[in-house]
Amino acid sequence: MNRIHAPRLHCARLARGLAQAGVLILLAGSSGAGEVETLRAQATAIFGSLPENAATEARPMTPGLVELGRALYYDPRLSKNHDISCNSCHPLDRFGADGEATSPGHRGQRGGRNSPTSLNAALHIAQFWDGREPDVEAQAKGPVLNPIEMAMPSEAAVVAVLVSIPGYAPLFAAAFPDEPKPITYDNMASAIGAFERGLLAPSPFDAFVSGDDEAISAKAVKGANLFIASGCVTCHSGPAFGGGMFRKIGQVHAYPTSDIGREAVTGRPEDRYVFKVPSLRNTAQTGPWFHDGGVTSLDEAVRLMAYHQLGLELSQTDRTSLIAFLETLTAAPNGAYVAKPELPESGPDTPAPDPS
Ligand code: HEC
Ligand code: HEC
Repeated sequence: MNRIHAPRLHCARLARGLAQAGVLILLAGSSGAGEVETLRAQATAIFGSLPENAATEARPMTPGLVELGRALYYDPRLSKNHDISCNSCHPLDRFGADGEATSPGHRGQRGGRNSPTSLNAALHIAQFWDGREPDVEAQAKGPVLNPIEMAMPSEAAVVAVLVSIPGYAPLFAAAFPDEPKPITYDNMASAIGAFERGLLAPSPFDAFVSGDDEAISAKAVKGANLFIASGCVTCHSGPAFGGGMFRKIGQVHAYPTSDIGREAVTGRPEDRYVFKVPSLRNTAQTGPWFHDGGVTSLDEAVRLMAYHQLGLELSQTDRTSLIAFLETLTAAPNGAYVAKPELPESGPDTPAPDPS
């Protein structure tokens, strides 16, 4: 379809002006077009655009870092029993989430929180539901030593495993060329973080915002307008459609949960039930939903959000439109980037799996 965008924006503004002046105008044959242009302009202002990756000057994505980080992300030898990797709970062929309410770690143990997707996480202001770590590099140090996740006994034990696998020496050397002894716990986490900074992918909604009218359905356009007009965007804004602020769950109507959220991090009573507003990229694929994985349908998640956060009771039609919009935020990452690499072989000193 041959569409000219700028003049139409102008047209929409003109139409609004005339409408305010009490003039009723009918734009023959293009009733939806003005709506589309208005939405595109609003979406650009509210969400901005998705960068190609989340690298920064301080946190670059060199090929060496990314290659090492990819291997470490998939390597189960970073777990005590050699059976759990980052990819176990954040599988990259399933939108970075395992579909479980809470994930089984070492000896099948489960924590109290749902595994959020690792896709687009590098865009967030902080990591974890309660934001207790500042970035993906700091975050990656946690699960390896967490006794109910990968359960390694100490940083030194992890470094010993990495040193014992001969193929890791050249990978660490290529990732940290200026360091005489590059195999360290912090460097492991930095490399995983560099890999995660590339886990971004543009969705059909991004294509729509950049000018492709056909990228999303009319129902999704309706849903996007509703998402903006009903106030979801007061929290779910920015290029990740969330991830940019902390807010209380139960802002308008209390939401029952035993998890105190961010209060445990800050010690401030006003942070009780405050969580990081999650990104909604890929949310249609990453259920069950909410911090405890307690919500099993997206329809229910949308209904609860409207009621508890905004005091709104949405009709089924409105929820269906909102879901059609949320589905346009689905985007699988680049297949070659996330493909599981061949992991370097264990050496004679590599410790045996420990099921205890
Ligand atoms: C046993 C399952 C499990 C394993 C293994 C695991 N994670 Fe997680 N991950 C979780 C859970 C659960 C959370 C949320 C915990 C919380 O918020 O308190 C989480 C949170 C995260 C987040 C924060 C995302 C966000 O939106 O805040 C990132 C990033 C992440 N994990 C990456 C990793 C990496 C990298 C590894 C490997 C080093 C890893 N995870 C290993 C379960 C796991
Ligand atoms: C006042 C801020 C706020 C508003 C407004 C808001 N949300 Fe949320 N949203 C959150 C927070 C905080 C969470 C995390 C809640 C939790 O799990 O404890 C969340 C979670 C979600 C989730 C689940 C994501 C996941 O990965 O589990 C969806 C879906 C969602 N919101 C959609 C919406 C929609 C649709 C609207 C508008 C009807 C909306 N939100 C309005 C703050 C908000």
